[in-house]
Amino acid sequence: MSVYDLICKRRTVRRFAQKPITLEALKQFVNAGRLAPSASNLQPLEFMVLEQTRAVQYVFERTRWAGYLPPDQGKPSADQAPVAFILILVNKKIRAEGYGADVGAAAENMILAALEQGVAACWIGSIIDRADIKAELAIPEHCDLDSLLALGYPAEDPVAEPLDGSVKYYRDEQGRLHVPKRTLASVLHINGY
Ligand SMILES: Cc1cc2nc3c(=O)[nH]c(=O)nc-3n(C[C@H](O)[C@H](O)[C@H](O)COP(=O)(O)O)c2cc1C
Repeated sequence: MSVYDLICKRRTVRRFAQKPITLEALKQFVNAGRLAPSASNLQPLEFMVLEQTRAVQYVFERTRWAGYLPPDQGKPSADQAPVAFILILVNKKIRAEGYGADVGAAAENMILAALEQGVAACWIGSIIDRADIKAELAIPEHCDLDSLLALGYPAEDPVAEPLDGSVKYYRDEQGRLHVPKRTLASVLHINGY
């Protein structure tokens, strides 16, 4: 599939099959993140892969999912939980602020590299108690936990649709997730606003 087709196809997934992702594949996703554009080429980001059940469970319990959905429709149930995480860390000795665009570029690179292998993701910024996670995983003081990618083979097939009033994603009667997106015509300006 072309990169453009992958970009169009990509949706955040919050229900996963309980099938492991190989460490080799996870390393490849991180490699895609490592090679992302970086302001001043400072490359302040580091990445932590979690694929052992205990660590995955520990972090899963400290994540919040799908704020627009009722609780029973948002966070995956235990049998649809992510099977791996990639934590995006910021080495503050290299850059202490202004790294948001670097994180964005690296995250999307990893998400698309994963999708090419059939692995879906939910990028998670809503983390309960980063300090707890840092302590549990021995993340040093000079590294911030920015956000993380929850990963797994998809067990749902969300669909994008033209935004009509509300940005809130929702599940239909069949449980399928619908994601409103602003139309191209509403965001595109050519040769001036
Ligand atoms: C920086 C960032 C943080 C996000 N944090 C969360 C989160 O904490 N929990 C969650 O369920 N989804 C999170 N998302 C996923 C968004 O809800 C999702 O991208 C949005 O609804 C659009 O859906 P799409 O990714 O399918 O286009 C986050 C996305 C981004 C870019």
